[in-house]
Amino acid sequence: MLPKQAGLFALRLCAIFLALSIVTAEDPYRFFNWNVTYGDIYPLGVRQQGILINGQFPGPEIYSVTNDNLIINVHNSLPEPFLLSWNGVQQRKNSYQDGVYGTTCPIPPGKNFTYTLQMKDQIGSFFYFPSLAFHKAAGGFGPIKVLSRPRIPVPFPEPAGDYSLLIGDWYKTNHTKLKAILDRGHRLPFPDGILINGQGPNGTSFTVEQGKTYRLRISNVGLQHSLNFRIQGHKMKLVEVEGTHTVQTTYSELDIHVGQSYSVLITADQPAQDYFVAVSTRFTKPVLTTTATLHYSNSKRPVSGLIPGGPTSEIDWSLNQARSIRTNLTASGPRPNPQGSYHYGLINITRSIKLESSAAQVDKKQRYAVNSVSFVPADTPLKIADYFDIDGVFRVGSISDNPTGKKMYLDTSVMGADFRAFVEIVFQNHEDIVQSWHIDGYSFWVVGMDGGVWTPASRNQYNLRDAVSRCTTQVYPKSWTAIYMALDNVGMWNVRTEFWARQYLGQQFYLRVYSPVKSLRDEYPIPVNALLCGRAVGRQTRPL
Ligand SMILES: *[C@@H]1O[C@H](CO)[C@@H](O)[C@H](O)[C@H]1NC(C)=O
Ligand SMILES: *[C@@H]1O[C@H](CO)[C@@H](O)[C@H](O)[C@H]1NC(C)=O
Ligand SMILES: *[C@@H]1O[C@H](CO)[C@@H](O)[C@H](O)[C@H]1NC(C)=O
Ligand SMILES: *[C@@H]1O[C@H](CO)[C@@H](O)[C@H](O)[C@H]1NC(C)=O
Ligand SMILES: *[C@@H]1O[C@H](CO)[C@@H](O)[C@H](O)[C@H]1NC(C)=O
Ligand SMILES: *[C@@H]1O[C@H](CO)[C@@H](O)[C@H](O)[C@H]1NC(C)=O
Repeated sequence: MLPKQAGLFALRLCAIFLALSIVTAEDPYRFFNWNVTYGDIYPLGVRQQGILINGQFPGPEIYSVTNDNLIINVHNSLPEPFLLSWNGVQQRKNSYQDGVYGTTCPIPPGKNFTYTLQMKDQIGSFFYFPSLAFHKAAGGFGPIKVLSRPRIPVPFPEPAGDYSLLIGDWYKTNHTKLKAILDRGHRLPFPDGILINGQGPNGTSFTVEQGKTYRLRISNVGLQHSLNFRIQGHKMKLVEVEGTHTVQTTYSELDIHVGQSYSVLITADQPAQDYFVAVSTRFTKPVLTTTATLHYSNSKRPVSGLIPGGPTSEIDWSLNQARSIRTNLTASGPRPNPQGSYHYGLINITRSIKLESSAAQVDKKQRYAVNSVSFVPADTPLKIADYFDIDGVFRVGSISDNPTGKKMYLDTSVMGADFRAFVEIVFQNHEDIVQSWHIDGYSFWVVGMDGGVWTPASRNQYNLRDAVSRCTTQVYPKSWTAIYMALDNVGMWNVRTEFWARQYLGQQFYLRVYSPVKSLRDEYPIPVNALLCGRAVGRQTRPL
């Protein structure tokens, strides 16, 4: 055997052992069989074609426990390609399962694909969503809960109930029309309303028993707008943000930016009646508001009084609230040891990256960019091209670590990074809107945010002790946000704005976290059931 073939043979043997070891692993399996279809929905009173999963809008909830293996067979019954992605699920060593354009071939119409996800070392609240075209504007999203394993302490008593609330801005216009607006090079109009679990005003009700405490997991699955969440007459105790148990601070209202998830505890400690749950857009004129009902099981009165108003002060209030969200260092996360035992503030930064967003016209069409590059998809998913060594699909280094000041241009932008690097990323926002940034495959420490332009002196105000670790962070208008991230997950990872029109029009790129030692300890091989498309058609995914 030639050395290369021998290596390949060893790799395949390992793949078989790995497959066996996955199968015999003790971590439990949960199986899901999902059928994705179009169906009529009426969230704002008019008929629309929504994306349903097993007939449901929003889709079914994924309930899981740390380290569970989820086997999700997704049947695409839409007349077009489809993919689901998993916001906040880290897909450790397994970016093939990430379900975004750069990692996974679309599921063709009438076909199915089985995702294999492991909730490895994760707890918390997340959601899934359709990642292609502009499907997210039609539904197809649903909540994900990852509970702690039985013997791992949770820093609050078991709640009497655990409700997921998906909130988001919504259009009466169907997603194909919205997509056509963007494809023609225009901006999206203002949304028509806000939905809570797929329902418009007064459409949803949560029942509580007087005297008991409940957990609400609130995710902003909308397309663009930051939302404020509050409950008439009740306070909320924040306990978890995207997989981190937080210092338990009490708030009367919470700002939740696009793509973010928060868990709060509420106690039904008020007179027995019904109360408004209110959600409204932030930093917009006009302000859109919607309501749901918090219903006491022994309620004597329907909702009454005024819908509680949102905060009237703008950015500063929100910024101060964001800074007050910190990690509870003594609480356990997914593992029994306290979350504070990883001293991220003592690790030396090996690389500093600064990302600047911009909006401009390219060829007379509206586009959005990061460090001047507006992302355009290639004909083959980048991860798959990488696996099969297919040249000419992308170039590592096609986006710079720092703003270049160049005019905006189109490219399939991929940033290279070393496995085990420890990076600082500064998101600099020169625009007048609140931005929201998400990184797949990771959770990162939000070490600082402030108004103005970031300078090295801004590091003096970083929180190097108990910053919150999460996967989606906001960047306020004309402000910066800095994060620290340990690159401990090999793969091809999407870095994107959660502002969906901007994401669609190029404000994203891929971070290729690479290890020259192609070890199965660091990354799983391509799944044997992987769909192949573009220039990978006809390649072999199965071990011989
Ligand atoms: C999915 O639902 C459609 C419409 O109800 C049905 O025609 C199709 O057979 C279903 N597919 C699967 C795989 O269940
Ligand atoms: C969206 O609306 C257009 C025009 O009304 C229609 O042609 C199209 O079929 C609709 N698409 C979906 C997915 O509902
Ligand atoms: C498609 O679904 C069938 C069962 O309905 C399953 O046997 C098969 O493995 C699935 N295909 C993929 C690519 O996951
Ligand atoms: C932090 O977690 C500990 C351990 O579970 C808990 O006892 C404590 O109340 C929490 N502290 C705050 C401020 O949330
Ligand atoms: C929701 O219910 C409240 C209280 O009954 C009522 O005042 C309000 O008009 C309702 N809103 C809508 C849009 O139906
Ligand atoms: C970080 O860098 C400093 C100065 O270069 C060095 O003295 C220190 O040992 C480094 N710390 C770690 C944890 O590598």
